[in-house]
Amino acid sequence: MTDDHVQNALASVPEEYYTRREDGSLIRQTSSVDAIRTGLKRLDVRSGVRVLEIGTGSGFSGALLGELVGEQGSVVSMDVVSDLVERARDRHARRGADQIRVVAGDGAKGMTEHAPYDRIIAWASSDLLHRSWADQCVTDAVLVVPVTIAPLPRSNAIVRASRTRDGGLTADRLWPGGYVEMHPEELTQWLVPPRGVHARTTDGEGNPWWISGTWVNECGVDETTALSLVEVLASESHVEDEAVLAPEESAADMHTYLYAAGFEGLSMFGLGSRGWAPGHASRQGAAALLGDGRLLAAGDPSSACRVREWAERWRQAGKPGAGSLTPVLEEVRDGWAARARVPGGG
Ligand SMILES: C[S@@+](CC[C@H](N)C(=O)[O-])C[C@H]1O[C@@H](n2cnc3c(N)ncnc32)[C@H](O)[C@@H]1O
Repeated sequence: MTDDHVQNALASVPEEYYTRREDGSLIRQTSSVDAIRTGLKRLDVRSGVRVLEIGTGSGFSGALLGELVGEQGSVVSMDVVSDLVERARDRHARRGADQIRVVAGDGAKGMTEHAPYDRIIAWASSDLLHRSWADQCVTDAVLVVPVTIAPLPRSNAIVRASRTRDGGLTADRLWPGGYVEMHPEELTQWLVPPRGVHARTTDGEGNPWWISGTWVNECGVDETTALSLVEVLASESHVEDEAVLAPEESAADMHTYLYAAGFEGLSMFGLGSRGWAPGHASRQGAAALLGDGRLLAAGDPSSACRVREWAERWRQAGKPGAGSLTPVLEEVRDGWAARARVPGGG
């Protein structure tokens, strides 16, 4: 699929007809045009193919898919929010886009009824590449899905996978990025991940702080200890004066490297009004690497030292970001967990 095809589709579909309500307000679940354009190019949607889209949202990306597949192709678009489903269905029908079907349901399960598919794209982040998707695809089908690449919420990257002859999946590319978590029911808040959080609290301004770490439970750390840690972070953390990363170094790249390297103590933190970031935690303290390359730390300073050491390891590895990591799929009960390998690393 060339830029031109996606560009032509963008020129033919009335964006605001989908993304704005009658009163002019934007549908909250709308992806940016740039993210949609990039996602569609990666999916390589040709005329006549059958696409499963997970995350209808405003209906705009589904409408573009409808243009790309043309009248000979088909699009099945799923969302867990039933009023979005009805709205998108109505909008497509009024434009006569009959090749697009909008269905309410959990995209993790796919939609057997209209399978098989040649392409699957998700606009919500998944913990797994689900077996149901492989089962509902033809051989060589392409999947473009945001997934967690470590057992931590929000450790996202976008993976390109394809369906193998034996019914499995293989992956060949990663890109940086991610979306709101895929969830079997409608979410009522987006600040705290729906899965994988070990302890949470709220600061004086009502902002959530949370922590997730594979070391909780596995290393004999219980959730009460995790709660004390997150409370210390919320009340006593400070941003260190000396940045870990130089201005030209990308925190997003180092974050993705950390997910791939999976160092002991790696954790994900919700940081009140600062959003969320990965870092190191132990029973005694924690340090998160913020998007501006500085550290937010609390308690025992050895966590901050550990993140500085990780930055050195990242530099020694050539500062890889998602684009230079190798995706690896590990088969699990319900599908494949996506992980990433550092170049030259094990
Ligand atoms: C970023 S929005 C999609 C935006 C859309 N592509 C557009 O053009 O407006 C993500 C959507 O995924 C939906 N979603 C979340 N979990 C889901 C699931 N398990 N199955 C299907 N849709 C899901 C959300 O309700 C939300 O509408």
